[in-house]
Amino acid sequence: MAKITASVFTSHVPAIGAALDLGKTQEPYWQPLFAGYEYSKQWMKDNQPDVIFLVYNDHATAFSLEMIPTFAIGTAAEFQPADEGWGPRPVPKVIGHPDLASHIAQSVIQDDFDLTIVNKMAVDHGLTVPLSLMCGASMPEIAAGAKAAPVAWPCPVIPFAVNVVQYPVPSGRRCFELGQAIRRAVDSYDPDLNVHIWGTGGMSHQLQGPRAGLINKAWDNAFLDQLIADPEGLSKKPHIEYVREAGSEGIELVMWLIARGAMADVAENPKGVAQHGTAPKVAHRFFHVPASNTAVGHLILEA
Ligand code: DHB
Ligand code: FE
Repeated sequence: MAKITASVFTSHVPAIGAALDLGKTQEPYWQPLFAGYEYSKQWMKDNQPDVIFLVYNDHATAFSLEMIPTFAIGTAAEFQPADEGWGPRPVPKVIGHPDLASHIAQSVIQDDFDLTIVNKMAVDHGLTVPLSLMCGASMPEIAAGAKAAPVAWPCPVIPFAVNVVQYPVPSGRRCFELGQAIRRAVDSYDPDLNVHIWGTGGMSHQLQGPRAGLINKAWDNAFLDQLIADPEGLSKKPHIEYVREAGSEGIELVMWLIARGAMADVAENPKGVAQHGTAPKVAHRFFHVPASNTAVGHLILEA
């Protein structure tokens, strides 16, 4: 049977992609940020998944105001990096897993979560920057002349896009319960697959209006603490608190609750009866400011 063995959480920032693509990782501004992901790149090699279920948000790239799915699952065989205005990032195309994605869509929709099924979708920095941070070349490899981007991503990736750009956005509670449903879906897939689930976006940042540039380190670190120790309690946080405390784009953090809801210690059967396994192990924790306008947070939890 397929099994979720780890969850990974990381911010995305388009400038991180640009720093990688333009060879700036050793510059004093960026070096401490990339240093925080050195452990993670080795961890990915040591804990290679068969599939990554990657929860992220599209930034009006594949979707626009014409069509706004709250939750969209990528069921295609492949996904091209998007052109966000400067040409597509020089990173590999994303290979999907149509069979597992279709199974998850079937299971989760029958489990009462409405997903939009997407058979063609370009993927923007929300998806490619986390992949680069986790699966790109290490600092010594880059210093020795390697390209930052690999020739191919290490495994198939199922893109799962969440609307956190245009209101109304989904609640943390719904994201958490969706994560629990995704766990049930993966648990009921026959092939023996090692699946990682990633929650991306955040942490505090605001890109617009009078509070542009807002960062809230204390709130972010309390969020990380509670995500580890009390995700169900965290899922009750109302969206207005994200906006007030973590800035208008801090709402991207609700996506982390999808990945956290899929871990063993908060598992439930379809009737909502607890079937809790053991708490995850924190393999890595990192927090860094500044990175463009965003506080960067990162966690790796092992099942
Ligand atoms: C920035 C952060 C984001 O999450 C994003 O989507 C775009 C820009 C930034 O910090 O600059
Ligand atoms: Fe963003």
